[in-house]
Amino acid sequence: MVKSSRRTFVRQAAMISAVCCAGKLAVFASCGTARPAAATFTEDDQGLYVPLAAVEGKSTLTVRSRRFDEPLLLTRNSSGDWVAIRLHCPHKGCTVVQREDKLVCPCHGSQFSATGELLKGPARQSLTTFPVSATDKQLVIRF
Ligand code: FES
Repeated sequence: MVKSSRRTFVRQAAMISAVCCAGKLAVFASCGTARPAAATFTEDDQGLYVPLAAVEGKSTLTVRSRRFDEPLLLTRNSSGDWVAIRLHCPHKGCTVVQREDKLVCPCHGSQFSATGELLKGPARQSLTTFPVSATDKQLVIRF
């Protein structure tokens, strides 16, 4: 009787562990596929600091800030200056993605220019942008 209940306990514990591990793996797997790859850089109350080496030779770079759930897109405007775009759709808050030369909301189809200006609704406003200044070593995104 004691052996049987101990054996039952061990089986149940093993099954619970297997279910828990499977759940954790699923979370990791979904995190890996649901969120776009983005680098994390130094951040403080003043802004987010991106080393120039990280953007060298690139026209865009996706970065993450602790301030937002969705990433920021660093890109250059028509004057060649860096600008940071929050990839948060102003319609209902979905994460906007890069598609060819546009930024597109996968939820309801709003479209934005490569620098965040509204091209097509249902969103009624452009994406939020933040100024970016450059030093000799880094870009600084000011919030
Ligand atoms: S949430 Fe982006 S278009 Fe609706």
